Amino acid sequence: MRKVPTAILISGRGSNMLALAKAAQSPDYPCQIVMVASNVPEAEGLQRAADLGIPVQALDHTPFEDREAFDQILHHKLQESGAELICCAGFMRILTPWFVDQWKNKIINIHPSLLPKYKGLNTHQRALDAGDRFHGCSVHFVTADLDSGDVILQKKIKVTPRDTAETLAQKVLKIEHPLYVEALRKVAESR
Ligand code: GRF
Repeated sequence: MRKVPTAILISGRGSNMLALAKAAQSPDYPCQIVMVASNVPEAEGLQRAADLGIPVQALDHTPFEDREAFDQILHHKLQESGAELICCAGFMRILTPWFVDQWKNKIINIHPSLLPKYKGLNTHQRALDAGDRFHGCSVHFVTADLDSGDVILQKKIKVTPRDTAETLAQKVLKIEHPLYVEALRKVAESR
């Protein structure tokens, strides 16, 4: 089996990245993680990736003049890595339409809500405020519109009366990891 070279973009702790990277260590998993890049040089996840022997790239976005300039460098780094798929995993940057166009149908993201509900931030509080009985997470293709591409897989959990934004965040994160592993497998195998 040829493993699809895959890059992961992060900005923080990288627990989803770690779940993907660990799954990819299995000979049966259809992807190989060729690079983990972060726009935040001190992101905890970078060290975690390096500890697994994955090439890491710290690409601080702050000195760049605009989004396009940053995205061009990111695009070149990704090309150099040989990546054919990109997983955003807690990557807190909106990608430019130009970048998304270069990687059409090749970028996926995990989002902590049952899309199309609650695009953007504070998803757990918004689900509570709306009185939702179910909440969850989605893996979707990335398009130029925020959190709007086709959903690949979703998983839901029940919201209980005792839940707070924090408990929901913990519960959702726990189901994010296996969901992302399964969704990336599905995308890689359908190529
Ligand atoms: C996750 O909740 C993910 O859904 C969201 O950002 C968070 C990243 O967490 N996009 P981690 O860095 O993977 O631990």
